[in-house]
Amino acid sequence: MLPVDLHPFAALRLTVPHPEGDVELRTGDLEGVLALSRVAAAGVHADDAMPFANPWTDCDPVERARRTLQWQLLGWATWTPQDWRLDFVVRRAGVVVGTQSLEARDFRVLREVTTGSWLGREHQGRGTGTLMRAAVLHLAFEGLRAVRARSDAFLDNPASLAVSHRLGYRDDGRRTLVRQDAPVETQRLRLEAADWAARPRVPVHVDGLDPVLAALA
Ligand SMILES: CC(C)(COP(=O)(O)OP(=O)(O)OC[C@H]1O[C@@H](n2cnc3c(N)ncnc32)[C@H](O)[C@@H]1OP(=O)(O)O)[C@@H](O)C(=O)NCCC(=O)NCCS
Repeated sequence: MLPVDLHPFAALRLTVPHPEGDVELRTGDLEGVLALSRVAAAGVHADDAMPFANPWTDCDPVERARRTLQWQLLGWATWTPQDWRLDFVVRRAGVVVGTQSLEARDFRVLREVTTGSWLGREHQGRGTGTLMRAAVLHLAFEGLRAVRARSDAFLDNPASLAVSHRLGYRDDGRRTLVRQDAPVETQRLRLEAADWAARPRVPVHVDGLDPVLAALA
């Protein structure tokens, strides 16, 4: 683990207990990031699908692993108190299965977060995507006092849209993005803190929050 005085997110750990295997999210975890890179190499989506506006997965497995490593380390290297991205390595029952990000720009003023995520193909469809998003929303709203979370997904990504709707996000208009040289519609979504607070609680244990609060204050 990185030393907490140098990387204040290193001790942050989110745990969602679940009878089919706890979901655990950590950041600043090099061993986890290396395992995550191997998960990316094994495949994130079908060849005829592209869930990402930036098609970083459209390459051979070794390159996909390298891009994963570079992206994760970029977040470690470039955070500031106002602009940051926490890329969590997600484990299900102790096995690295994917990643969940929580990101903000001008957080001290706007108190808004956005999220992004992927799971290895073999790990999808077991409810992990919903639990890991719930974990970072809990961190954002209850730990960091965010007022709003935003997300978006291509209209042809029903799993991502289902995760957002299940967690209480409301549709917030559409916009057209360029995806692999073609215009594709995305659904924008937003979740207000009050809507999150009114929902049934997902039990999330948060460890290592104090250094994070101090760093982002
Ligand atoms: C999007 C993703 C993170 C969701 O995680 P997941 O663990 O597969 O999703 P869950 O098992 O928690 O399922 C969430 C919901 O999606 C639904 N769902 C999953 N796959 C679906 C599909 N192909 N069509 C319709 N609904 C689907 C599930 O039924 C569930 O709905 P419910 O809660 O109402 O029953 C994961 O599928 C993934 O990594 N996909 C590839 C990368 C990606 O799309 N990233 C997001 C980019 S915006």
